[in-house]
Amino acid sequence: MNILILGSGGREHALAWKMAASPLADKLYCAPGNAGITRDAECVALDVADHKAVIAFCQQAKIDLVVVGPEVPLCAGIVDDLEKAGIKAFGPSKWAARLEGSKGFTKDLCKANKIPTAAYERFKGAGAAKDYVRQHGAPIVVKADGLAAGKGVVVAETIAEAEAAIDMMFDGGLGQPAWEIVIEDCLVGEEASFFALCDGESAIQLASAQDHKRVGDGDKGPNTGGMGAYSPAPIMTPEMNQRVMDEIILPTVRAMKAMGAPYKGVLFAGLMITKDGPQLIEYNVRFGDPETQVLMLRLMSDLVPALLAARDGQLKNFDLRWYPDAALTVVMAAKGYPGAYQKRTLIEGLDEAAQVDGVEIFHAGTIAKIGDARIYANGGRVLNICARGKNVGEAQRRAYAAIDKIKWPEGFCRRDIGWQAIAREK
Ligand code: AMP
Ligand code: GLY
Repeated sequence: MNILILGSGGREHALAWKMAASPLADKLYCAPGNAGITRDAECVALDVADHKAVIAFCQQAKIDLVVVGPEVPLCAGIVDDLEKAGIKAFGPSKWAARLEGSKGFTKDLCKANKIPTAAYERFKGAGAAKDYVRQHGAPIVVKADGLAAGKGVVVAETIAEAEAAIDMMFDGGLGQPAWEIVIEDCLVGEEASFFALCDGESAIQLASAQDHKRVGDGDKGPNTGGMGAYSPAPIMTPEMNQRVMDEIILPTVRAMKAMGAPYKGVLFAGLMITKDGPQLIEYNVRFGDPETQVLMLRLMSDLVPALLAARDGQLKNFDLRWYPDAALTVVMAAKGYPGAYQKRTLIEGLDEAAQVDGVEIFHAGTIAKIGDARIYANGGRVLNICARGKNVGEAQRRAYAAIDKIKWPEGFCRRDIGWQAIAREK
């Protein structure tokens, strides 16, 4: 079959790499892709926001399945439009994508279905929101409704900080004025990323992972899209995984079906494992980035039939097999990220780095110039240096050994990815 992946990050490169190994994949395309994805798929210059253009390409290239990477096209209804045109697409409908697109929607769904999540209130104006914050005290969490590329959450340590966040969000500090915000209790515990494939009725768990959101070593500094990840997450014991399926994922799938918006695709639960058990921080309606890079390294089974089974409502008796090895990925980003950074800087040594035992390199913001085989940085998060190992410690050693062969003076990475898991291994 012919498959089209939409997106251009490390997540999409990892999906392309995994699907390129599938005997079911005849021809693999990625739009728009990046310089690394060209190894595994033919990159097509499509504007993913232009659904008509995507459909026209699918018809012309006889695409049998579209796999949507990022949340923006999902929330814009690309799956609905593709399916209406008779093209199979993996991912949730626009209605179901509200689980990521609207924090208020998800919090209300949790409350109505007794899904464990932080206590909260929704606000459409700053006055009432500030009154609530003053009554509740700090720390407290302020979230803008709607997609904000990871920037819509402020964990406020003081009441003044919370009030400033409320004003910032309603005054357009995130690009446009928030039409609604959610204020919730601050959860205490360890975070984990939990992934389940859903087919509208049933769900199967994928491997667990943990990511490092902060830009600096020791988990310090501003939040980013993710600076590294590893799998499995040691805190996700078999009992904890079962609790997440029973208390969070399956009640969500049942509730979505009951309201006529069955959830199909991958459901990514950001969890806080508290002393009382797992709590949902947020849902994403897509694969995580960089978690997918480590999941794909650990997945033994063919991914393509699993995505098809989710699309076709056939997950009930489906099973996936995983390598027992650990996997870890370190993100290399352009200096300055998550703030301003330089583009079009030269990256060398990637071939030597890829030779290190167990290492796989996935590209994110990279570009190659016509007639020039060299690779240049073209974004904030630029490369994912991934490795498998018998444990997280070995995977980490391999990933950093590869990074030490890469010559990119304008880039940086964290040097401590995996520290929580490695501390437990010792
Ligand atoms: P999000 O953009 O929703 O992933 O949130 C970004 C980060 O904010 C999360 O990964 C958590 O570290 C933190 N966060 C969000 N909500 C809460 C909460 N209720 N309690 C504690 N931390 C939170
Ligand atoms: N790594 C977190 C995310 O994909 O949102």
